[in-house]
Amino acid sequence: MSIIKQMDSKLANMIAAGEVVDRPASVIKELVENSIDAKASIISIEVMDMGMQSIIVTDNGEGMDFSDAHLAFNRHATSKIKDESDLNHIYTLGFRGEALAAISAVSKVILRTRQENQEGIQVEYHGSHLVYEGSATLNKGTVVEVKELFFNTPARFKYIKSDYAERAAIIDIFDRLALANPDIRFSLKMDDKMVKETYGTNDFYNLIDQIYGSKMTKDMTVFEETVQKIKMTGYLLSPQIARSRKKDISIFVNGRYIKNYRLIQAVIDGYHSYMMVGKYPIALIHMEMDPSLLDVNVHPQKYEVKFVNESMLSYHIETMIKDALNKKVHQIPEAINRIRKDQDEKYVYQSLQFGEELIQENNEDNKDNDIQKLPDLDFVGVFSGTYLLFQNEDGLYMMDQHAAAERIRYEHYYHSLANPNQSVKNLLMPRSLDLTKEDIEVISKHMKSFESYGFIFDENYDLTGLPIWMLDTEVDLGIETMGSMLAEKNKIDLAVLRDSLAKDISCKGAIKANKSLNQNEINKIVKDLKQCKNPYTCPHGRPTIIKLSHYDVERMFKRVV
Ligand SMILES: Nc1ncnc2c1ncn2[C@@H]1O[C@H](COP(=O)(O)OP(=O)(O)OP(=O)(O)O)[C@@H](O)[C@H]1O
Ligand SMILES: [Mg+2]
Repeated sequence: MSIIKQMDSKLANMIAAGEVVDRPASVIKELVENSIDAKASIISIEVMDMGMQSIIVTDNGEGMDFSDAHLAFNRHATSKIKDESDLNHIYTLGFRGEALAAISAVSKVILRTRQENQEGIQVEYHGSHLVYEGSATLNKGTVVEVKELFFNTPARFKYIKSDYAERAAIIDIFDRLALANPDIRFSLKMDDKMVKETYGTNDFYNLIDQIYGSKMTKDMTVFEETVQKIKMTGYLLSPQIARSRKKDISIFVNGRYIKNYRLIQAVIDGYHSYMMVGKYPIALIHMEMDPSLLDVNVHPQKYEVKFVNESMLSYHIETMIKDALNKKVHQIPEAINRIRKDQDEKYVYQSLQFGEELIQENNEDNKDNDIQKLPDLDFVGVFSGTYLLFQNEDGLYMMDQHAAAERIRYEHYYHSLANPNQSVKNLLMPRSLDLTKEDIEVISKHMKSFESYGFIFDENYDLTGLPIWMLDTEVDLGIETMGSMLAEKNKIDLAVLRDSLAKDISCKGAIKANKSLNQNEINKIVKDLKQCKNPYTCPHGRPTIIKLSHYDVERMFKRVV
């Protein structure tokens, strides 16, 4: 007896709904994406009880006619693609024709819509059933109201997390949609309270401040470059605004927010020498490319996309961020951060801390674009055997001698490694190294790579030549770093090698904390640090020097208020 039966469309829709809408935030995403595809310039979102009671999305887009307003609820019904070839160049956010079918399978949906110069229409679906159709009065555009989400799928209903988690997910989706569309005015109300809004003026400074908080874009670095017909624009917030989570790194492709591990890692790597371990930046990367270069049809929620050349993209993102941040000379961090409580109140002291998520107040003497290398400093003394103290007319400076030495050595090596095969220093006597069997295996396999960096071995694996920029005492370390990279990755990624070799060598060989230095050595540190492109952080992102301004000191002694 045969037992297989064709599902009816209602059941099929409910099953498919699980993939597209798993929580209130994903309903919001689908509805807003439809509004964006309908060319709306104003989109408002109103949510009651974290979306479980109702979600209303209102837009001023093109609207639908009578038959489309019904067809829209059918599974696999879409106005956005027509045939197979359209799948290769998708210009809209939606194309699968399933979002409204899925949402209406698991909730009660009221759709009201009106096209320019037409009558308004209202249709209502409860769990995929049409329960009402009629006319409606509204402005041009569409209003979709979703009530009692998951009322007929108790298992899903139970799965919904805490209010807090749903609220966070809704705000998160809102942020990405708004950041992806600087030309659209968005607003989000939750339980009748305005939570966030943007102005749709195409101004990223304004937009980012609206989303992340005022003054966040102070010291923001912006880059724009076109590589192989892909336009990339980066909005890099100051490394001083460090987060403990990666979530605030957003990647957009053709206006679509995507999740891509490699590209996010590229952003983190680009920021690397400016960030402390375990801290992540806030950054947006917008890419515009021919839609045929990517496949968005990977997952129903469309967060994943496949690129034709992901490695190339991640390489460029990392390098562009590095270059952009290096070009911008950052300022010496102030020992005392001030935050503003509100517009009227005077500055508030926030205790002596550095590198927390505080917004540094605009200091009137520091003009934003002032290229500020290390100023002239007079040596005052040493504190705790590690911190060199200096002063000048602006205040008191504390320099971490180890961090400073690391920065100096890092830039020296990073620079030398840019042109690795320039010259080789030949050794009169071959020098034997302490090599294990594994080391020898790696070296013999990658002899050419080693040679291109200036490490020349003879047949006994003794060294007969070394790179001219490398000190004799650092040879073992250099070979070890290169060897372990080759053993691990089987190839040399020049960008990564430069960075990691420079970091490794610079850290291990740098002047240690607690080593006492003579005046000549101290003068040399200051002189060398002045030559650095980025003198203010060590290669691991910690500060090399901190300033306590004259004003701060006077305030501490209550000479000024
Ligand atoms: N806010 C809106 N304004 C105008 N038309 C809309 C709106 N929302 C939906 N539509 C119409 O309804 C159709 C179905 O929407 P639905 O979201 O179900 O599918 P889609 O957007 O085509 O694809 P996807 O499932 O990938 O989102 C759309 O193709 C569009 O024509
Ligand atoms: Mg859609």
